[in-house]
Amino acid sequence: MKNIDSITHLRGESVYLDDIPLQHGTLYAVAFDSPIAHGRISSLKLEAAAAMPGVVRIFTAADIPGQNQIGGIVADEELLASEQVHFCGMPVALVVATTEEHARQAVKKIELQIDPLPVITDPREAQAKGELIVPPRTFRIGDTAGAWPECAHIFEGRTDTNGQEHLYIETQGAYTLPAENGVIRIYSSTQGPTAVQRTAARVLGIPMHCIEVDVTRLGGGFGGKEDQATTWALLCALATYHLRKPVKYSLHRMEDMRMTGKRHPYSADFRIGLSDDLRIIAYEATFYQNAGAAADLSPAVMERTLFHCTNTYFIPHVTATAYSCRTHLPPNTAFRGFGGPQGMFVIEAAIAKAAEELGLHASDIQQRNLLRTGDEFPYGQKADSEAHECWQKADELFNIGKIRQDIAAFNAANPVYKKGMAVMPICFGISFTKTLMNQGRALVHVYTDGSIAVSTGAVEMGQGVNTKMLQVASTVFSVNPGRVRINSTNTYRIANTSPSAASATADLNGRATEMACQAILQRMKTVAANAMQATADNIAISDEWVHVNGQRSDWDWNRLVAETYSRRVSLSEHAHYTPASLHYDASKEKGHPFAYHVYGTSITIVTIDCLRGTYGTDAVKVVHDAGKSMNLPVDIGQCEGGIVQGIGWMTMEEVVYDKEGRLRSNALSTYKVPDIYSVPKEIDIHFLETTKDNAAVFRSKAVGEPPLMYGIGAYFALRNAIKAFNPSGHLAWDAPMTPEKVLLGLYGQPVNVSDQPDNIPA
Ligand code: MTE
Ligand code: HPA
Ligand code: MOS
Repeated sequence: MKNIDSITHLRGESVYLDDIPLQHGTLYAVAFDSPIAHGRISSLKLEAAAAMPGVVRIFTAADIPGQNQIGGIVADEELLASEQVHFCGMPVALVVATTEEHARQAVKKIELQIDPLPVITDPREAQAKGELIVPPRTFRIGDTAGAWPECAHIFEGRTDTNGQEHLYIETQGAYTLPAENGVIRIYSSTQGPTAVQRTAARVLGIPMHCIEVDVTRLGGGFGGKEDQATTWALLCALATYHLRKPVKYSLHRMEDMRMTGKRHPYSADFRIGLSDDLRIIAYEATFYQNAGAAADLSPAVMERTLFHCTNTYFIPHVTATAYSCRTHLPPNTAFRGFGGPQGMFVIEAAIAKAAEELGLHASDIQQRNLLRTGDEFPYGQKADSEAHECWQKADELFNIGKIRQDIAAFNAANPVYKKGMAVMPICFGISFTKTLMNQGRALVHVYTDGSIAVSTGAVEMGQGVNTKMLQVASTVFSVNPGRVRINSTNTYRIANTSPSAASATADLNGRATEMACQAILQRMKTVAANAMQATADNIAISDEWVHVNGQRSDWDWNRLVAETYSRRVSLSEHAHYTPASLHYDASKEKGHPFAYHVYGTSITIVTIDCLRGTYGTDAVKVVHDAGKSMNLPVDIGQCEGGIVQGIGWMTMEEVVYDKEGRLRSNALSTYKVPDIYSVPKEIDIHFLETTKDNAAVFRSKAVGEPPLMYGIGAYFALRNAIKAFNPSGHLAWDAPMTPEKVLLGLYGQPVNVSDQPDNIPA
């Protein structure tokens, strides 16, 4: 089934925040944000700005009626800076005016004086100074100290991965409306309506039932709106609270890039030990996460890094420690993979380094160590592994040996162009790592005309979750999909939602939808059974007709609905779903945090131009463990999008902050994202259709985040291509592998771009 939004998207009729019709008297808000990364506010002068035409009022921290606090995990982030600023882009004041242009003009007249304090941008420096968001955590299995003497080969190194701008097509924003009895309705571009509701209640000092949050859809979130849509919703809500007027704020792209956090950059040290027959015996890693100026979701992201530090390999002795380091950058946040990719990069670099030093292919080590069912992860859960199946199927379909031979022949014949390939097997845990967040809810109504409305906690952000929810309802009732409508995500219909994140949205809300539909169906069957002198077990609905003992009756769906209603039997149901058997003990760092894992293997082939340092991706070939996909076009779209986004992170997207903590890559002219010319020439995705039971909705495994990690293969493929040209070239293990770095790898010494920004004129 096609994505249900495809036609309205194409016609431009789909409703995003900016498409909501405005109420008469709507005012416009624009934030004034700190130009300095760290310092004490010595004076804030608003008079000149307040005197500008159209200005209604300017709000500061002093106007907040409740707590000036938006931190979700740690209470360490103010909505509006009161005494100190902690990052460039931190909101300090909010101008509200009759037009957006008036608000923007007035913002320029605000005078802020700051006594600067020292700025830290490097996570290792922050760690050395004791600037940690939360205490460090260590995952352990076996005994690495005891295992090193057993290892035939030991390699060490340092890796660095950079941040990534979410670049959702729709920038962040909010529109808030006053309603009766002190209620505020918030239209927000958020992945987490309840987070917005809860935080608004805290900041405004009013109960959550006074805040209605409504989300129709997002023009992309990618994690950037899991936590950080809250700021704009709250700023507008603050103005509506005081003025009792509708207030809108839709960020400009450069504001959004400057003021919001990104994927966490990580620096890491690794040590890997192998046996003579290439078994990985021991692995140690220390991760320095660049959290930015406030916790945001960093502790949870850090935890997922540790959960994924061994990727898809069984390693008997592991010690992995992670530090969440406080720097003066905008708080970094969720981004597709949520710290998992950062952890996986390090083990892949360790394996690649071992392979380079031993003169082998990394794939020889990778394949040798893939997880088998029953193997234990460092956090205690046992694998139910498809790792070997995916790898073998990929080899069978694509022939890794033949690809390698063809590349060797090409490289031998071409002095200027070189090809490289890498295999990237993945394993990604599905469930929120915070066990209590694994809850989904659905509210299903069957109306008397036979149409069906479904509300869930799921936020549609392009990933196709609404299409899947619709499929669940139409499948359970066995009715035409056209009968089902998915309503907006609304905190008055569905309470206490977890954000749409962790790739678990379809599972959690889909299983709840299934339960709600089943409950209604069961009541309808009882009605039919009573009328037809049968038992409910002998009643089935199939293609909109009631069947008794396998025989079609003369009741169609509409008759069934009418009969149920006329007997005063409820045609509505609210259901709550939570996956069984999840638990985790953080004091021991052991448990069963994931409902299941998603596996896969990709092969990436790249070509570099050794004169220019430019490159392209020839192909990404994948065998992906989708369980039993309930929607092929949607799931293939998720794979393609994830792969391209992963390649962007690994090869071209370069977030640059200077030493003063100012974002230099603050527009699309200085921040390169994959375009139509840089996507792989071929993306070939095969689903491993497993028949095994799993905890997913309709056995269709979560697909939102895992494919991003295939993109990591592009980094290693590029390295291999560089080595084909210059085998003795020294390359640091840092990503992204930009054309500059490729050129330096081909001809010279590496330069760490993050050490360079002093050269960029202010
Ligand atoms: N796909 C699109 N088109 N837009 C998005 O914003 N977000 C990704 C992924 N795929 C995203 C996307 C992220 S970060 C997650 S966690 C999942 O979708 C969330 O949706 P799901 O739980 O329904 O997979
Ligand atoms: N994944 C994504 N988002 C989250 C998680 C997680 O594990 N935990 C909290 N928010
Ligand atoms: Mo996705 S990073 O869990 O929103």
